[in-house]
Amino acid sequence: MQMGTQPSSLIGLLFFKTVRYLPYFNKKIDMVLNDYKFLTDYCKEQIVKHRNEMKGSDYDKESPPKDYVEAYLRESEKSPSFTDIQLINSLFDLWIAGQETTANTLIFSVLYLLHNPEIQNKLHKELDVIIGSDRRINLSDKNSLIYVNAFINEVQRSVNLLPQNLLHKTLKDVKVGKYI
Ligand code: HEM
Repeated sequence: MQMGTQPSSLIGLLFFKTVRYLPYFNKKIDMVLNDYKFLTDYCKEQIVKHRNEMKGSDYDKESPPKDYVEAYLRESEKSPSFTDIQLINSLFDLWIAGQETTANTLIFSVLYLLHNPEIQNKLHKELDVIIGSDRRINLSDKNSLIYVNAFINEVQRSVNLLPQNLLHKTLKDVKVGKYI
């Protein structure tokens, strides 16, 4: 993930076809590709492990699946569109996109709160008023938690959490003003 956010790696991936032959960039691209292989190999091992478990005589098909891979493999028995390559890439997406982003948001939130106890008091007050202490917070509370949202936005802005967005490309020519 750290490799993926380095500008040199992103330039490498953006102009992959040419830049991979240039010194310096080719090493960065290799590092990203090696990380990709390392993680996807791990995902493949887990899929094999789950499949073997599911073939075991003590496997209970009626009990709820214990995780995402098991749920996916059960669906794949019903529909051929649930392929292994799709599963490997979904796992890779969840791992890469979900880990560093969430961990850094949490770590820096705690750090900033330690240095700004008055902000922590304000957050606590809003949570006491809107949520109270006898129920769990849920997504539908999001719009009512104005200060909490502002705090999270400010943390993510300050730490420069995702300096470069994902790469996108249009599938056909698009006209913007006089430009194509
Ligand atoms: C603080 C936490 C997170 C931040 C700041 C964040 C940020 C982002 C951003 C900026 C994008 C690009 C959106 C775009 O294409 O314009 C993105 C995409 C994505 N995120 Fe997150 N994300 C976070 C957590 C997660 C988690 C927890 C998951 C999954 C478990 C996740 C999965 C994804 C996926 C799969 C995409 C690609 C969506 C697509 O195909 O367009 N993210 N995220």
